[in-house]
Amino acid sequence: MIDDGRMAPGPLATATGLALTVVLAILSACGSQASEPLPVNGRTPAADGAAPPARVTFTEVYDQVLNSSCLGCHTGIIGQFTGLDMSTKATAYANTVNKSSSRCAPETLVVPGHAESSLLYLKVTSPPCGSLMPQNAPALPQLSLDLIKSWIDEGAPND
Ligand code: HEC
Repeated sequence: MIDDGRMAPGPLATATGLALTVVLAILSACGSQASEPLPVNGRTPAADGAAPPARVTFTEVYDQVLNSSCLGCHTGIIGQFTGLDMSTKATAYANTVNKSSSRCAPETLVVPGHAESSLLYLKVTSPPCGSLMPQNAPALPQLSLDLIKSWIDEGAPND
């Protein structure tokens, strides 16, 4: 009976430890929820490596893909491939959307709403004729392919 007082801390310590374990479990559960990626709604800057924006403009396609990867050969300058001039955003749009291919008849360069039927997209993924673009260079990264595909599938707006 004299020892009862000394035995008391045993169960108490166990209860305290259990409570602490529960608190830690709750805290870690909250932590894992907070670290999950937030849903992507609307526009996301491409620079942060996130999924492509839900709605792609031609300005993005031109500035982020065509301008940097294609103008080495597609500016209409003699000695380059003069068949497709994309030297400005306006020229690139006018020469591709609903325009027939000069080399790969009867293909159309951009068929609004149908990337898989658009030669501009096929030339950077699986060309039905001629070389994969950009010619003599590594294939475009997936993010660039996704930008072109989304823009065409969304109706190829001139914005
Ligand atoms: C190193 C030069 C070079 C670069 C860079 C280049 N092209 Fe080309 N492109 C050509 C040549 C040459 C042809 C014609 C031969 C062929 O179709 O393979 C061509 C043809 C094309 C055609 C077919 C035109 C038609 O009317 O049939 C498309 C579409 C095209 N390129 C898109 C692109 C895109 C998009 C890029 C950038 C991602 C690009 N090219 C980069 C040289 C280039």
